[in-house]
Amino acid sequence: MGQVAQVAQVAQVAQVTQVAQVARSGFKVSRFQSFKVEGQEPGQDQVPSRRCSAVRLEMDALRYRDLSFKPLKEDDLPVLYGWLQAPHVREFYHRKSVPGWEEMRAEYLQRLDPGWPTRCFVCCFGSTPLGYIQTYRVADYPEYAAMIGEERGISLDLFIADAAHIGNGWGRLVLVKFLRDVAFPMFGEEHVCWIYHDKQNHRALRASRAAGFRHVRHFIEDGDTKELLALYRDEVCAARIHR
Ligand SMILES: CC(C)(COP(=O)(O)OP(=O)(O)OC[C@H]1O[C@@H](n2cnc3c(N)ncnc32)[C@H](O)[C@@H]1OP(=O)(O)O)[C@@H](O)C(=O)NCCC(=O)NCCS
Repeated sequence: MGQVAQVAQVAQVAQVTQVAQVARSGFKVSRFQSFKVEGQEPGQDQVPSRRCSAVRLEMDALRYRDLSFKPLKEDDLPVLYGWLQAPHVREFYHRKSVPGWEEMRAEYLQRLDPGWPTRCFVCCFGSTPLGYIQTYRVADYPEYAAMIGEERGISLDLFIADAAHIGNGWGRLVLVKFLRDVAFPMFGEEHVCWIYHDKQNHRALRASRAAGFRHVRHFIEDGDTKELLALYRDEVCAARIHR
């Protein structure tokens, strides 16, 4: 095993242990309440209604409180490289090809430049790294804007690093807290966040809907059907956190 892989593996083992202890320690794994847009059926191609009232969320307040987002640093890259190899990440994230270490390092090093349009973060629960999330202005990526059919707003991509932790409510917590505390404050002039998932990525679609994202339309990327969803700044900021 190479040095980079060893570093990644050691970090991952520590992470699994700590977050799994939290999951076993009696925390209620609560679920956000999904909500239906008035007059809109699933699959209907229309922009989400702004008449929708504030998102009402049931969430684990303690887990929410201890989530934080640390700007990605060069020191994080070996661990990130390990995370990108995980089968559940590869299934829908970096799907086509996993870059080699040098290629990946070069790709992410440029993102550490404060002038780079994509802002990258490690999600942490307490001091334990939980996953990765990045955000960017749609207008900064014209090809992407054309693909999703939107000119304004922000987008984000994320993954939970360890397969043992997916499907336990972390994704929705991360989405809501990241949008409220980091992404919308960072891009103050933008008012909507777009996210898209492969139509087969049922887990991601459920997590995003649970965070308040709503269906906008389908589109095709490289022959695969994707679902575009949206969440507005005022909705996520008005989200009621039940404590
Ligand atoms: C997408 C992702 C970030 C969501 O995080 P998460 O912590 O798993 O999400 P949550 O636990 O909040 O929600 C997952 C939902 O999917 C459900 N789910 C879990 N496994 C599922 C499966 N195999 N099929 C369908 N639904 C599934 C969960 O029950 C939950 O829904 P519910 O609360 O309505 O029951 C995480 O799964 C992940 O990292 N996936 C791999 C990378 C990826 O797909 N990223 C998105 C592309 S940008």
